[in-house]
Amino acid sequence: MIRSLRGRLFAGLTAIILLTGLVGGLFAYHWAFDEAIEMQDSVLIQIAGLVQSGSLTGGRELRGVDDDAEVWLFDQASEHDAQLWSLKDGLALAARKGQPIRVLLRTRPDGTRFAVAQRTSVRDEIASDMAFRTVLPIAALIPCLLLVTAVVIARSLRPMVRLAGDLDGRRADDMTPLPAGQMPSELHPFIASINGLLQRVRGMMDQQRRFVADAAHELRTPITALSLQAENLSSVDLPAGVRDRVTTLRQGIGRTRHLLEQLLALARQDAGSLDGTTMPIVALDNVVKEVVADAISEAVNGRVDLGFARVEPVAVRGEAVMLAALVRNLLDNALRFTRQGGRIDARVYRDGAIAILQIEDSGPGVAPEEIGRIFEPFFRGQRPEGDGVGLGLSIVKRIVDRLGGSIEAVNVAEEGRTGLRVLVKLPAASG
Ligand SMILES: Nc1ncnc2c1ncn2[C@@H]1O[C@H](COP(=O)(O)OP(=O)(O)OP(=O)(O)O)[C@@H](O)[C@H]1O
Ligand SMILES: [Mg+2]
Repeated sequence: MIRSLRGRLFAGLTAIILLTGLVGGLFAYHWAFDEAIEMQDSVLIQIAGLVQSGSLTGGRELRGVDDDAEVWLFDQASEHDAQLWSLKDGLALAARKGQPIRVLLRTRPDGTRFAVAQRTSVRDEIASDMAFRTVLPIAALIPCLLLVTAVVIARSLRPMVRLAGDLDGRRADDMTPLPAGQMPSELHPFIASINGLLQRVRGMMDQQRRFVADAAHELRTPITALSLQAENLSSVDLPAGVRDRVTTLRQGIGRTRHLLEQLLALARQDAGSLDGTTMPIVALDNVVKEVVADAISEAVNGRVDLGFARVEPVAVRGEAVMLAALVRNLLDNALRFTRQGGRIDARVYRDGAIAILQIEDSGPGVAPEEIGRIFEPFFRGQRPEGDGVGLGLSIVKRIVDRLGGSIEAVNVAEEGRTGLRVLVKLPAASG
């Protein structure tokens, strides 16, 4: 059983074409063969007419009349074949010297008889030759038809292949409905079902995101209260053992707060309804400068040289908070992975229609087998630093996607240096 629709259509249509060709060819062959035989009979009749009118005399082979056909003319007087002359006037099949012949017998007005004859094998050969020529165009047409069929099938199925390619090439979270406009009407119910499914999946995903956002939001208040209490505790005069535990408690609460903030930031990106084109225009260089300024004290504490390697005015469409979250998360990672005495270079500039933001640190970089996964939620690799939760780069990626940009992280591959270089490209806004 052929499983592919294309295979089935082609096999079915090929069978029909071959069968039609075969039956049509056989009929055409027989028809043309009979026709040729009749034509040769009429030649015999014409010759007989000439003999009867006295234009031809019998007793010889009429090579001049038709060379191939070898038409003979016999007179009863010269040909003593009793069996031949026992036949009645008219067309008949007979034998001469052991060979089958077609013969036309006639009686002249004076009562003498004559016969015009032709060897059956010669007649058949001519007839089959003519019949074969009739069938030839049909035979030549079949491969052409098969070719055209294959092309028509391939072209008719192309929208389906395109549709599959479109679905395959989608991002997992891309729920935009499939366009039905250009598709053949047979595919419309199919497309409608897929779109219905996409809509349901989208609804479910939205619900899940709302749940995460709500849960994170609800947890925020008690965690804030807890962290205030822990803060208060640390100002109380406590025995050394208890103080240590309070410090551990505060760190734990701090991590939980960070997790909640990151979850909320992620949920906010997912829930955002604006897309890149309808957002306000923001000066990206100013946002980056502000975030870098905020991080300077942390960098100084860690003895890391944080600064700009290039900064030029460039605007993008986005929300300032969104862009700040993007830059903060990248800078956060760079600071976390850069040792004392290391450096972090920020670059922000415009390259044609693209706004470029690059953060490069001098940390250890990411293990090559992990670099493809660092944008996955909760992925922290084998050598995680600090109190991260593994959501920072997922948030960054969502923001970049929403703004219609791209992001790539590569290890610095220069002699005697290590580090991670993160390059963000966003569509630059004119203005
Ligand atoms: N600059 C960097 N240098 C080395 N490794 C990095 C760097 N940035 C990210 N990584 C690797 O990628 C992982 C994921 O980074 P991501 O920012 O998503 O999470 P995180 O920093 O661990 O947690 P979070 O940002 O949510 O606090 C990190 O755990 C780390 O292994
Ligand atoms: Mg991070």
